[in-house]
Amino acid sequence: MSRLIQTLNSKINLFPIWFMRQAGRYLPEYRKIRLEKRTFLDLCFDSKISSKITLQPVKKFNLDAAIVFSDILTIPNSLGQKVYYIENVGPILEPLQKKVLSKLYKYRDFIKKNYEVYNQIKIIKKKIKGKALIGFVGAPWTLAVYMLNRKSPSHNFKIKNLNFNNKLINLLTKFATIHIEKQIENGAEVIQIFDSWAGLIRENQLHKFCYHPTKRMLKSLKRKFPNIPIICFPRGIGKKYKDFVNFVGPDCISIDQSINPSWAITNLNGIPIQGGIDPIIFCGERKNVRKITYKYLNIFRDYPYIFNLGHGITPDAKIENIKHMVEIVKENRL
Ligand code: CP3
Repeated sequence: MSRLIQTLNSKINLFPIWFMRQAGRYLPEYRKIRLEKRTFLDLCFDSKISSKITLQPVKKFNLDAAIVFSDILTIPNSLGQKVYYIENVGPILEPLQKKVLSKLYKYRDFIKKNYEVYNQIKIIKKKIKGKALIGFVGAPWTLAVYMLNRKSPSHNFKIKNLNFNNKLINLLTKFATIHIEKQIENGAEVIQIFDSWAGLIRENQLHKFCYHPTKRMLKSLKRKFPNIPIICFPRGIGKKYKDFVNFVGPDCISIDQSINPSWAITNLNGIPIQGGIDPIIFCGERKNVRKITYKYLNIFRDYPYIFNLGHGITPDAKIENIKHMVEIVKENRL
């Protein structure tokens, strides 16, 4: 059984290591393939190519897990709201039309549109013996943010200008759950739910927009797949991570770089913790990589911990630094 699954299921601390956005633009071999295709979504919807990309970092660094190569925004795209990825800008979505919210979009259309994503999982599954295969999805809130704001909310985002409503959140909860189910049926063994923009929600609305929809997803997934561990990543909610863990009950919690790891150990019910290391560390000096890796090894010596970052690897990350962290972790684990 893979190190990641053992750490998640038995809470044995084997220090598995993988990274969010481990396949991506910082890798020359990814950039090469990217140049040959028209768009990023063309890569996601070609399982022969996407399965190759998924495995690039796993082989290069001998990581403990592969994460499906896709994007959280394939969901709006498959529901009929087109998504474009623009160089140096990020994703841009066309206006959200009524047809997306209507019942026009049926289960079968959605599954058909994501066929290549599910097929990728089947291909990879045969090639990664002893490593875990992670499927993922965006949480309903984060998907709604992109669908209503139509671009990344990093600048000038005003929640009150947008029409967040139950109908949209319910629709996304339903399809995010379906998307996960299909990934599991095709071979995903661990699931991560990315709520990258949970930090934008006002405190008194966290329950409605973040905890509650996520819990609904977990409840229905656990009924069907009780043995598949679910990692939640409600990025940016600070001390509210504690309420999140108590209410939602995930199998593992992924922390961002604003969270003090010692605080996390004492406040998050003893569930396995993932991540927290500032991604900027990979852009700087080797000696700082060493320092922070030993810091996390020491803090989590007696606690089930999964090495990962507080957010995705950035395009300017240095390969040598990633290699260095993996090396140190491997030298210091059972
Ligand atoms: O982690 C992995 O290696 C698996 C693949 C993966 C991608 N996106 C590939 C990608 C995963 C898990 C994601 C999740 C994702 N996508 C999130 C949640 C995590 C987070 O970063 O907060 C979000 C918010 C998105 C939406 C998204 N997709 C944005 C904002 C961008 C543009 C910014 C950027 O980094 O380029 C993307 C594009 C994207 N998703 C790329 C990749 C490899 C780059 C596409 C390219 O080659 O041009």
